Amino acid sequence: MMQTRTISIQSVKAASGDGAASARDLQVRLSTENLSLYYGAFRALADVNFHAYANQVTAIIGPSGCGKSTLLRTFNRMNDTIADVRVEGTVKLDDEDIYAPDVDPVAVRTRVGMVFQKPNPFPKSIHENVAFGIRLHNPRISMMREDRAGELIELDTTEKIFTKPSDKRTEDYVSGRFG
Ligand SMILES: Nc1ncnc2c1ncn2[C@@H]1O[C@H](COP(=O)(O)OP(=O)(O)OP(=O)(O)O)[C@@H](O)[C@H]1O
Ligand SMILES: [Mg+2]
Repeated sequence: MMQTRTISIQSVKAASGDGAASARDLQVRLSTENLSLYYGAFRALADVNFHAYANQVTAIIGPSGCGKSTLLRTFNRMNDTIADVRVEGTVKLDDEDIYAPDVDPVAVRTRVGMVFQKPNPFPKSIHENVAFGIRLHNPRISMMREDRAGELIELDTTEKIFTKPSDKRTEDYVSGRFG
């Protein structure tokens, strides 16, 4: 059964330590060690030590501006996209340091997803936004087709879509009949 654990960001250190006895049998999936994050000269996270366990829900609670979103963004390197950000300490996913120099942040983001309060499409077409995640998770798929209403009708390799489409609408699309 899924359990719920609640911590506040100010007491992340204490929560990790105090919870050690009950957490002894739990598997740590995500952890930070002395994690600090700077926006320029401003230190938004200071020595955060955090554990999140497999199959548990962990809530991060704290007043506005205390660094909740900043901490969440360190879990899949979303802060990398913000200019002038510097990270100290470590963030580990299944014991792997996700800030190690040879780690590809895009590969990290295929394993650590984020659900935002509001949809926030990339600055490209909606078709391309939908296709992005599908292609990332399945590089075999190089092409997708959708009908006029935007319904996805077929996903497959370019070759298969052009030579042996399994949906009539795809064939119509490829042959130009669909408009
Ligand atoms: N891109 C940024 N550049 C500079 N400072 C930032 C940036 N993003 C956040 N900060 C600052 O870092 C601190 C932590 O902000 P953060 O958004 O992580 O807090 P929060 O706990 O998520 O707040 P809220 O509850 O309002 O969502 C705040 O002082 C904020 O002003
Ligand atoms: Mg926030």
